[in-house]
Amino acid sequence: MVFRRQFLSWFGIGAIASFLPVALAACQDNSKTGNEPSSQEEKIDTSLRPDGFQALATTTQLEEQGTIIDRKNAAKSVLIFRLPETGEIAAINAMCTHQGCTVELDDASQALFCPCHGSQFNLAGDVATGPATEPLDRFDVKQEDNLVLVKVT
Ligand code: FES
Repeated sequence: MVFRRQFLSWFGIGAIASFLPVALAACQDNSKTGNEPSSQEEKIDTSLRPDGFQALATTTQLEEQGTIIDRKNAAKSVLIFRLPETGEIAAINAMCTHQGCTVELDDASQALFCPCHGSQFNLAGDVATGPATEPLDRFDVKQEDNLVLVKVT
C-alpha cells in the first residue's frame, strides 16, 4: 500500500515535470515566432558579380553582430567590420598568416588578434606583434543599398 502511494506520488511529480515545459511554451509571446526570417537569416544573392564583387552580408547583420566572419569562399574567410574612426566598412582575410587560425577583432585594443599564438595585426592588416610576419590581405568592399559587397581576390 505504501509502495503504491509512493509510486503515485512520484508518477504525479513526473507528470508535472513532463508537462511543465509544454505549458510554459504555450504561455510565451508568439509574436516573434512567425515565418518572418530574422536579419541573420536574410537570404541574399551571394553569386559572384561581373565586377568581381560578391554580397556577403547586409548592413543590418553587421550592425547586429558587430563583426561578420564569412566562410563562403573556401580558400579565404572574410572578416567584415566597421572602422571605429570613420565608420567605413572594412573586409580583411581572417586567416592568420602564421598558421591559418581565424583572427578576431579585439574592440578594446582596436586590433586584430589571433587566439592561436598571439599574433596581432592593426586594422589595416599589418603585423603589430608576431609570430606572424606577413600582413593580412584587405579586400575591396562597398555598400549597395543594404548589402555589403566584397571583392575576394
Ligand atoms: Fe595565428 Fe599562429 S596561427 S599566430
